[in-house]
Amino acid sequence: MYTFLKDKILDEENREIMMDWETGLMQEHAKVVTENGGDILEIGFGMGICANFIQQANINTHTIIEIHDEIFKHLLEWAKDKPNVIPIKGDWFDSIPKNKKYDGIMHDTWQEKNFHHFFAKVQTLLKSKGIVTYYNAEVKESLEFNINKFKWCDLSIKEIKVNPPKNMNCQYYYRDTYLIPKLVYNY
Ligand SMILES: C[S@@+](CC[C@H](N)C(=O)[O-])C[C@H]1O[C@@H](n2cnc3c(N)ncnc32)[C@H](O)[C@@H]1O
Repeated sequence: MYTFLKDKILDEENREIMMDWETGLMQEHAKVVTENGGDILEIGFGMGICANFIQQANINTHTIIEIHDEIFKHLLEWAKDKPNVIPIKGDWFDSIPKNKKYDGIMHDTWQEKNFHHFFAKVQTLLKSKGIVTYYNAEVKESLEFNINKFKWCDLSIKEIKVNPPKNMNCQYYYRDTYLIPKLVYNY
């Protein structure tokens, strides 16, 4: 069973899955992914921080894929008064609807086995000039190296200041800057 606290979600081994210090960076991801409005695909609900910001934008639909039973229940509860939300239970890898294209896609999962398939998959799901952004733990050089080899998109990066808890109170991020990647489908 996960532990749901006001400021974080912990797994069975007390490892942080999501923490509220990420609110500022999730707001930036939401801003980027909704730049074209339209139909948004969000992968990984977590604390719903990014989802709340996406909801504040002028969008058409907001599809959210979530794998975990308890978090999916939170998603269903949260979505009750949000008619444009399409909740999907499952692994994004085999759960993305096949009949739809998106104006924006945001990926933020945890313990992901299939991330190396993500970019090949999403490029087939984008409308013209569609935008992809994702939780990014890389520094600028490796981010640029990994993304600039793709011919289908143009990369831009926004650097923001962040303040993750120190003294091992956040085990997944420790830098004081964070890079938001924005990939624009160039077709
Ligand atoms: C770091 S949290 C997402 C945080 C979210 N962006 C927010 O603002 O609160 C990661 C989420 O991805 C979900 N997840 C992990 N692997 C997944 C997968 N393969 N498919 C769909 N969801 C997944 C986890 O259960 C968790 O809810």
